[in-house]
Amino acid sequence: MLILFLGLATLSGCTNATVAAPVLDGITVQAFHAIQRCDYNRAIAGLYGPIGCCSLRIRVTASVAYNDWNALDRVRGRMKQAIKGLLLSPATKNFVDKVEAAVPLIRKWHRFEYEEHFLRVAEWERLFSGVYPSFAAANAAIPAGRNNSYDNADSATFLGYKGSVRSSDYPVLFWLAKLLDKNSRVFDFGGYLGISYYSFEKLLDYPPNLQWTIYDVPAVVRAGEELAQEKDTRRRLAFTTTFERAQEFPLFLTFGSFQFPEATFAESFRRLSNLPAHVLINKLPFTERDTFYTLHNMGPALAPYRIANRGEFLESAYDLGYELVDSWDNPEFSCYIPFHPDHSVRAFSGMYLRQKSAS
Ligand SMILES: C[S@@+](CC[C@H](N)C(=O)[O-])C[C@H]1O[C@@H](n2cnc3c(N)ncnc32)[C@H](O)[C@@H]1O
Repeated sequence: MLILFLGLATLSGCTNATVAAPVLDGITVQAFHAIQRCDYNRAIAGLYGPIGCCSLRIRVTASVAYNDWNALDRVRGRMKQAIKGLLLSPATKNFVDKVEAAVPLIRKWHRFEYEEHFLRVAEWERLFSGVYPSFAAANAAIPAGRNNSYDNADSATFLGYKGSVRSSDYPVLFWLAKLLDKNSRVFDFGGYLGISYYSFEKLLDYPPNLQWTIYDVPAVVRAGEELAQEKDTRRRLAFTTTFERAQEFPLFLTFGSFQFPEATFAESFRRLSNLPAHVLINKLPFTERDTFYTLHNMGPALAPYRIANRGEFLESAYDLGYELVDSWDNPEFSCYIPFHPDHSVRAFSGMYLRQKSAS
């Protein structure tokens, strides 16, 4: 950052046009902002600041020459993309890895910068940090006074109640389209305000007798119930904080949620006297390593985040009487843990588990 600052300060000083000064200031602020928000990390940005300066100089000269102020707004967006692309590129990461391997002090500084940034960020950047052997160890690393779960007013609403349907959702939609006809009672574990229910509505023919019950933490349940009064005009959505109610439902969904609770899938399911016949899983992180935990900064909260061993997870599902009917990757969902590349997850997973007795 220091190099970048000095570079930009020099650039400001040597551009001697009154028109250019405010423009340059604006861009400088934007550049700082863009670089600081890059999720790879702003420390690397410091190493690459001079490249950003060259690009700035060319763009400022061109914009001032054409007196095209609007172009500058567009340039800022594109420049931000360009800088981010450069910082996130595998070539940059490889180069930085090599530099840091040769000079360990740089790696220490880089790590310090990242951890400081990770703890400070309060907007959604999908950041991960650290590797921990247990939920308790990850939880203990969260600074006192910070939210450590979804169970607070800010975390309960920041994701919104509806989202765009991504390619990773289509395997789920495929199986839901088949299953909903005969299984109109759905238990959505960690279904938030009803994201899947509201987002899938336009793509699926929900059966007229659909009952979609969301199990979630109390703050989310409160916000979801309130919102449903306004949005769920057909009154098909319900909320609960009682996990045991899952035994009343033939169809169990968990999308991007079972990595958060301390109890594993198997530990939770062993509490049920009657197991759901069908389990649709999506957006869960697995690796071939032993199960471990990382910390997830989701903006309003930091939370322990389980990355389970795939084989162990499947074994526990088989022990519960399930068979694996289908599985797929979620290429849009990954988990990059800086300084732990061998613990990072390239693509999350989805699967359809069915009770053997239900086939
Ligand atoms: C990333 S959101 C996923 C939301 C939604 N299922 C989706 O696909 O986008 C994680 C969800 O898991 C819920 N969650 C986290 N910890 C939980 C717990 N201990 N018990 C129940 N739900 C939990 C959160 O409140 C949140 O709704």
